[in-house]
Amino acid sequence: MDLKIAVLAGDGIGPEIMEQGVAVLSAVAEKFGHNVSYKEALCGAHAIDEVGDPFPEETYKTCEEADAVLFASVGDPKFDNDPTAKVRPEQGLLAMRKKLGLFANIRPVTTFDCLVHKSPLKDSIVKGADFICIRELTGGMYFGKKQEPAVNADGIEDALDTNYYSRPEVERILKVGYQYARQRRKHLTVVDKANVLASSRLWRKIAQELAPQYPDVETDFMYVDNAAMRMIQDPRFFDVMVTENTFGDILTDEGSCITGSMGLLPSASTGSSTPVFEPIHGSWPQGKGLNIANPLAQILSVAMLFEHFGLKEEGALVRKAVDASLDQNVRTPEIQVEGGAEYGTKEVGAWIVNYINGVVR
Ligand code: IPM
Ligand code: MN
Repeated sequence: MDLKIAVLAGDGIGPEIMEQGVAVLSAVAEKFGHNVSYKEALCGAHAIDEVGDPFPEETYKTCEEADAVLFASVGDPKFDNDPTAKVRPEQGLLAMRKKLGLFANIRPVTTFDCLVHKSPLKDSIVKGADFICIRELTGGMYFGKKQEPAVNADGIEDALDTNYYSRPEVERILKVGYQYARQRRKHLTVVDKANVLASSRLWRKIAQELAPQYPDVETDFMYVDNAAMRMIQDPRFFDVMVTENTFGDILTDEGSCITGSMGLLPSASTGSSTPVFEPIHGSWPQGKGLNIANPLAQILSVAMLFEHFGLKEEGALVRKAVDASLDQNVRTPEIQVEGGAEYGTKEVGAWIVNYINGVVR
């Protein structure tokens, strides 16, 4: 297969983990005889620094022309405490999602048995937890009408975000939820706040209409506050959850931390144009340049990329190599066992590439 990949390494630890992601992608492609070409493009804080735009038109073109985007992370502390900044690195990510129509964000929360002891939850609660959060990604408060802080006619400073959802937006994401549930344990949890929010009542109404079309899937509804609680009380309850943009953002951070390390979780975003594959975690500026960032979320994003194109064996090989690295304690510092050897970002990546090269097909 010919694959054109747009490479958006972004900020912070992004370029370091991306280097390993690309190395793994290339090693697997070579093994299976795929022809992969890469094109790098600017995004995030360094795009602001270089061209004044966190998602320049040229980057958009590169993404649009590619078969897939491999994305790392964006963000820089110099923007965080400046509420008046006109442009922010995160706008690059949001612009990419909107312009590429990436309405479905697939975030698997998978636990690794050998790492459950790193979870803040008891082993007996978290062991075996394995669910997918399907987060709506181009609607809701993130993209609804906004008014930045300003003094109104009554002399009071106010601001506004609108949590807008339309029927087509809700229908298409719920259908994605059902498709995933069908391929898994056939249990879909629709997470909303229908006791308070009108937009949530639209979600619930549409889900109730759709449910009879998926009689093989058990549908249940849960308020988001309850879901946040359930996720730490009994994460194994969940199979597939589907929820709006903001709730999905919050719940997936919670989800990622119960697995033991945020550095392990990949994601896929799909929609009307080029799909994007990226770690759930951010740009971790404090770790930049230190060769300590865990490259596994980026590498597992490569597995999701292969799987998206139906290349199951390729994806499975990436996952097998990652499992092997964990089993053999080839781990970055945050998940290394006590007294274990220290491996950096580069060393973990190189070990995995070496493992892949050594597998006989
Ligand atoms: C995420 C991130 C982004 C979001 C930020 C960086 C805009 O937290 O992908 O979860 O809020 O969606
Ligand atoms: Mn987030």
